[in-house]
Amino acid sequence: TTYNVGYIIGSLAKGSINRKLAKALVRLAPDKLNMTEISFADLPLYSYDYDADYPAVANDFKAAIKGSDAILIVTPEYNRSIPGGLKNAIDWASRPYGTNVFKNKPTAVIGASPGAIGTAVGQQVLRPILGFLQAPQMNSVEAYIQMTPDLIDDDGNVSVPGTEQFLRDYMEAFHQHMARVLTVLPRDA
Ligand code: FNR
Repeated sequence: TTYNVGYIIGSLAKGSINRKLAKALVRLAPDKLNMTEISFADLPLYSYDYDADYPAVANDFKAAIKGSDAILIVTPEYNRSIPGGLKNAIDWASRPYGTNVFKNKPTAVIGASPGAIGTAVGQQVLRPILGFLQAPQMNSVEAYIQMTPDLIDDDGNVSVPGTEQFLRDYMEAFHQHMARVLTVLPRDA
């Protein structure tokens, strides 16, 4: 079986180290995973005032998630939490009430930081959000990546063989996670 995996990058920065990490993960993913970026860059700030008439950009964002077999979130840690843009995007995806597209969606979280904690704290903030939205999360492998300047180049090539293998194993674990989840849960919420 081939799976369509959407990936969301938590950073909007042009020089995002998490975008570099995502490029590496796309490169190292098993052949059975078709990886497509889902961008939240054009979403306005969410308010439930929009619920009666969702903007096209938000419907498109939700449709991209709904149409994916699984979602990978590659995110920085900002102020010991997740970036506001990512939280805003998840809020859009969760509403109007009853149309949460994360429900039953296999998910995995990974992130990179220049610091040794490697987004560990930010990821712990994201987990209860995905839990509340009933997205079955991969509990392990955990992946807290400390990004050094030469670790991953702009094309997603990883310079340290041990890290490259770790990221490959991470994507294989995610592959197995989605295969398990999709065996027992319907694809659509
Ligand atoms: C950071 N950074 C950061 N790093 C970290 O390890 N823990 C943190 O809590 C924070 N907080 C934080 C807040 C804000 C507003 C910014 C802009 C940055 C540093 C951060 O890890 C670094 O800028 C990375 O490059 C962010 O990843 P992207 O955006 O380059 O993918």
